[in-house]
Amino acid sequence: MSCPDCAKEPDRRSVLLRFVRWAAALSGLALIHPLFRFSGFTIKPKPKYIKIAAPLPRSGVHAEREFFLFASADRSTAWAVSRTCTHLGCRVNFLEDKQLIECPCHQSRFTPQGERLAGPAQRNLPVFPVEVEQDATGKVTGYVVTV
Ligand code: FES
Repeated sequence: MSCPDCAKEPDRRSVLLRFVRWAAALSGLALIHPLFRFSGFTIKPKPKYIKIAAPLPRSGVHAEREFFLFASADRSTAWAVSRTCTHLGCRVNFLEDKQLIECPCHQSRFTPQGERLAGPAQRNLPVFPVEVEQDATGKVTGYVVTV
């Protein structure tokens, strides 16, 4: 004697087969993932726009977590330099008295424009684009840094 609902229930073998297929699919994905990483496949993050209101300090330097914003004496030109050292990734500091950017970890030094001067870092600091915002009279109202 068999009930009509019993035929609809999956038997143990089909449940086990389904489990094996899912496990094989997940294992395949786990194997493919390092290949994508090895091939250099990356998804570029969306740019962040960080607005800094004018005026900047007298020194012409504004420090953020990710960058230093420098401005020329008349504040009409500005540039932003990354604070992440190109050696091993420490956060660099700006030495105002020496007009240098220095890494506290291994003392790599850079110019305020991000050019490497000395130390174990082999590359310049990345420079981020900066848009200078002005009002109708030409007065600088702020800076937008694209990180
Ligand atoms: S991490 Fe900056 S010099 Fe080594």
